[in-house]
Amino acid sequence: MAVLVTGGAGYIGSHTAVALGETGRDVVIVDNFVNSSPRAVEAVRALTTAEVALVEVDLCDGEAVRRVFAQYPITEVVHFAAHKAVAESVEKPVAYYRNNLDSLLGLLEAMLDNGVGSLVHSSSCTVYGQPEVLPVSESAPVGAESPYGWTKLMSEQIITDVCAVRPMDAMILRYFNPVGAHPSGTLGEDPNDIPNNLVPLVMEVACGRRETLQVFGGDYDTVDGSGVRDYIHVVDLAEAHVAALDVLVGGHRGAVAVNVGTGTGTSVLELIEAARRATGAAIPYEICERRAGDIAKTWAATDLAAELLGWRATRDIDDMMRDHWRWQCQNPDGYGR
Ligand code: UD1
Repeated sequence: MAVLVTGGAGYIGSHTAVALGETGRDVVIVDNFVNSSPRAVEAVRALTTAEVALVEVDLCDGEAVRRVFAQYPITEVVHFAAHKAVAESVEKPVAYYRNNLDSLLGLLEAMLDNGVGSLVHSSSCTVYGQPEVLPVSESAPVGAESPYGWTKLMSEQIITDVCAVRPMDAMILRYFNPVGAHPSGTLGEDPNDIPNNLVPLVMEVACGRRETLQVFGGDYDTVDGSGVRDYIHVVDLAEAHVAALDVLVGGHRGAVAVNVGTGTGTSVLELIEAARRATGAAIPYEICERRAGDIAKTWAATDLAAELLGWRATRDIDDMMRDHWRWQCQNPDGYGR
């Protein structure tokens, strides 16, 4: 028995592979390394005694996916593999729809053909846009403002439709903003382009690679005018996947979307303060124009995750900054691709 982890060399996938290994499950990672490194899999193996197999596969290659199911005794699937850059998706919509939807469809076909009926799927709080009511619950209206966001919503719909008529059950996890790294400092986020998410940029300023941080917007209707997000430690997020898989294996039926956040909003300026505490660095910043497409604020309602998964985040913003900083200091060039 093994859990297939697609995109298991990526940021969230690699942490989840470790968390699955900690529960004694064997893992089969498939990844095409377009935005990840095989070294992440080496780091996963060093952190677990479970078997971690690795197959280099593009999930859009249906034949190759079928071979993976023929080769390994896969009983459950956690699906991360996808393109995830919002701005790039606006530039390359066809590539985003093709990659994110073809890969899911091929995976679902292979699961159905092989009688594998448990799926944990990566979705995003991006499906809520700017929520009218906070904290935002799973029943809030959904929509999308980028091809990336649409691929997430369409994927949710496809999975829901399949689960309605076929022997398949799914937990669709809507992540808020994952940050941090494994406490060992050996596993973390390694974006292969110039980072554009907040925490990797803050860490680059903290270590002197970048002079100042640009804070996008100082006039939002928030605690201090800067944007507010629900940052979640990537290890908490990984543990949510294990909890979701346990619930599926325990007999949950159908498809359900569940928020995975802490329930706490943190502003950009509050996060900078936390990063200063963790790093001891000054982290100079300047308030700039708002970034196009950004929302003002969001944070998760966490009741459903607590009820259904028996899971709550346990790590706070200081833990997130400390662990991200340790990763950054130990691996200034990431996995060194
Ligand atoms: C972004 C994506 C979202 C994705 C998420 C994953 C966009 C529009 N949204 O969300 O789809 O799921 O990453 O983590 O790209 N900020 C600054 N200065 C910076 C960078 C960011 O002030 O140099 C601010 C932003 O305005 C925002 C906050 O930091 O208020 C977080 O930004 P970011 O890390 O990019 O995440 P999101 O925009 O929430």
